[in-house]
Amino acid sequence: MAILIDDTKRVLIQGITGREGQARTRLMKEYGTKVVGGVTPGKGGQAVLGVPVFNTPREAVDALGAIDISVLFVPAAGVKDAAISAIDAGVGLTVLVPDRVPVWDAMEIAAAAKANGGRFLGPNTLGALSPGKGVIGMIGGRAESARAWFKPGVPAGVGIISRSGGMASSTGYYLGQAGVRISTIVHIGGDAVLGLRIPEAALLFEADPQTEAIVVFGEIGSSQEEELASLIREKRVTKPVIAYVGGKAAREGTRFSHAGAIIEGGRGTHDGKVKALREAGATVVDAFGELPAAVVAILSHRKGHSLMSDAERTAQWHTALTQIEPNRVAVRGYDIAQLMGRASFGAAVHLILTGELPSAEVGRLMDAILVASIDHGATPPSALAARTVASTGASLSAAVAAGIMSINRHHGGAIEDCAKELAKIAARAAKDSLTLDDAATKHLAAMKEAGDRMPGFGHRYHTKDPRTARLFELAQAAGVDGAHMKAARAVERAFAEQKKPLPINVDGAIGAILADLGMSPSVFNGIFMIARTPGLVSHVVEEQSREKPMRRIDPVHHGYDGAPPRTLS
Ligand SMILES: CC(C)(COP(=O)(O)OP(=O)(O)OC[C@H]1O[C@@H](n2cnc3c(N)ncnc32)[C@H](O)[C@@H]1OP(=O)(O)O)[C@@H](O)C(=O)NCCC(=O)NCCS
Repeated sequence: MAILIDDTKRVLIQGITGREGQARTRLMKEYGTKVVGGVTPGKGGQAVLGVPVFNTPREAVDALGAIDISVLFVPAAGVKDAAISAIDAGVGLTVLVPDRVPVWDAMEIAAAAKANGGRFLGPNTLGALSPGKGVIGMIGGRAESARAWFKPGVPAGVGIISRSGGMASSTGYYLGQAGVRISTIVHIGGDAVLGLRIPEAALLFEADPQTEAIVVFGEIGSSQEEELASLIREKRVTKPVIAYVGGKAAREGTRFSHAGAIIEGGRGTHDGKVKALREAGATVVDAFGELPAAVVAILSHRKGHSLMSDAERTAQWHTALTQIEPNRVAVRGYDIAQLMGRASFGAAVHLILTGELPSAEVGRLMDAILVASIDHGATPPSALAARTVASTGASLSAAVAAGIMSINRHHGGAIEDCAKELAKIAARAAKDSLTLDDAATKHLAAMKEAGDRMPGFGHRYHTKDPRTARLFELAQAAGVDGAHMKAARAVERAFAEQKKPLPINVDGAIGAILADLGMSPSVFNGIFMIARTPGLVSHVVEEQSREKPMRRIDPVHHGYDGAPPRTLS
């Protein structure tokens, strides 16, 4: 987990069509934030970077469903109305990036949030960033640099709360350099009236199981650090707090960059804050440069999981597939020794390709897909290519690679292409309010007129592919029957109306099933390669052991002399 933002949160951008709104939406999307919609009054119906724009947050919620967070890039004068309209539409968290928002407006936003059980961050905030999960606002700049600077808090990380925007990023950067992972960085904003303040942010981190310690970049003015000290004394914040308080040299009455950073009547002084925090048990460093080492020392002492190994710290790039440590191999987080004997190969293929283990039924379905494609005799181009190369005296790897290289758009590629056409048919039915049968008929007619063939239907050999019916049966048993499989049946019905019925073939069936499983079409050809490799290895080994080198391979005329038909008991 993390706080405020993670990869499940659905985000709206208010002011999305403006200069900053557009630029930041691109960066947020690139970092992985789920931006589902935008709002600019009078610009509803447009799209920015593929994100639909609405006139109001209410319209957005009506069209898109519940929205968790709205980030505002609306000039200060419009912030109050924009924020309250988001709160009224049920958005749980509004992030007020703009500066110069009038104090009175911020107070009205606070009242509206309180009345609706909502929460806001800012104003004048750079937002929040949970490494590897998402960013709301402006922290970290380019996605590439944010990825390089802030290390994901997995299995655990420290939470950063900063009263300074620039120092929010810098604190994350220097902690990353020191080998510390981060759960979330929050910049609470520098104004006098704020939504989420240090104490509230600390309580969120206290409740977050992924956060091991809380790092605070404080400054003079307000009573936030003192309130945090009270929470520590009352044991409502029990995780280690490591803080730096800026403004040591500021005299009373000096405004220290932010509106909220002012010492008045002896309150909010640097010394008072440091004393309160230290007396409560927090670690307070005298210089910012001492902060990373202090955090590392505390985590090391507690044997915290937020510290990276040396190898991780010096890593130049990352992979999310498999973690190798001495005496441990973990695929997508699962110990391989635990997977072995418990997860089938099909389930493991699903795991490595999608990141998640499937249900037992879907695992069986994945196995069936792999079995269905294991071999199709000696005539397919991949088998012929592998045998031809094998007959030259090439190595097993070279001959199998030749077979794999012939798997392409017209051999195995129908899986992906068919899924794409079925998706178009389902989308057309939804968009034009047509039945799937009508959408399929219209789509096939358009394809015919364009001189295209529907991939995944008909077979040069089989009139009723024995693998297709079994795959659909297993899919139904696994509860898989989504838009693609329904569209496939509609296409079959549309073809049945024609003179020469074209039943769905194994490629089409696999494409429809994999798409209904939610897998990305970009891996479909790969699944065919994974499935066909054992067949290709067998062809190469048989060619090398049974046949003479450089023989002329007849692509059609060959017999079968293997095991007679037999059944599984
Ligand atoms: C908020 C801010 C970023 C906007 O700047 P900008 O993007 O240059 O402003 P623009 O005028 O280009 O865009 C604002 C958009 O909001 C839109 N807008 C106005 N009222 C709106 C409302 N109620 N709801 C949604 N959008 C609204 C405007 O129509 C405009 O879009 P348009 O250009 O398509 O018409 C800027 O005013 C600001 O406050 N900058 C400082 C932020 C900062 O640094 N904060 C953190 C400090 S640590």
